[in-house]
Amino acid sequence: MTWIDLGDPLPRPSPARYEPTEWDVGLVCPLPPCEQGLSLTLEEVLDARVSQRQFALMNDQQLGDFLWHACRTRGVGASNLGFDLEHRASPSAGAIHPIHIVLKRPGCAEWWLYQPKAHALLELKHAASKLAGLYEHSLKVLEGDDAVRILFLAEPGKTLGKYQDGCSLIWRDAGALLAVMALIATAQGQSFCPLGITGEPWASALADQGKLAGVGLALLGTATGA
Ligand SMILES: Cc1cc2nc3c(=O)[nH]c(=O)nc-3n(C[C@H](O)[C@H](O)[C@H](O)COP(=O)(O)O)c2cc1C
Repeated sequence: MTWIDLGDPLPRPSPARYEPTEWDVGLVCPLPPCEQGLSLTLEEVLDARVSQRQFALMNDQQLGDFLWHACRTRGVGASNLGFDLEHRASPSAGAIHPIHIVLKRPGCAEWWLYQPKAHALLELKHAASKLAGLYEHSLKVLEGDDAVRILFLAEPGKTLGKYQDGCSLIWRDAGALLAVMALIATAQGQSFCPLGITGEPWASALADQGKLAGVGLALLGTATGA
């Protein structure tokens, strides 16, 4: 067995200022504000969660409600890191939230970046061609023509500006986010399944070398009852 030691994270004595990725975006699609609370109690959600592998189409409201609960920014705080700290449903080392949610909706070639402060989707220019191979690859892992494909796209430099040897924090953030998403999908009666593939080598091609890295995928849709 080869265990890759990612090191033991330590806050840097003086944080390095980081310049976040500037995205080349096209259309901006505001999502509807969440109208419905969650219908299940936490206890019911914990007892009901399972990975589902059958997906039906979601409308904007259903997708928006999922992102609202699982990913939106509820509050921000100033920092000297070059970007704001944030509160979201998922915990994140240093409140940094280095993982972007990039998604592809069924029947549409474009990939969209979720903007968690504005609760909106931003069309990522050039992503359709750069991520076409990833789409094909993900279909081989789990079909689901009617599912939303969610790419967990890490920007490690955000976390590494504050922590030396901080790479393991990115993977732990990805796990925390995955768990929150799985629970929210269950609470909304939706189908959700993580994928073991990372999204590489396609995900990192979305920016200059080394700035972005794929740290997982998941499929989301409404339940089919199957
Ligand atoms: C990190 C991670 C990667 C996974 N990758 C896949 C996958 O590639 N394909 C799949 O069908 N399920 C995948 N799963 C789902 C697991 O197979 C599933 O969680 C496990 O069988 C337990 O079932 P449950 O989630 O219904 O409790 C993954 C789960 C996790 C947490």
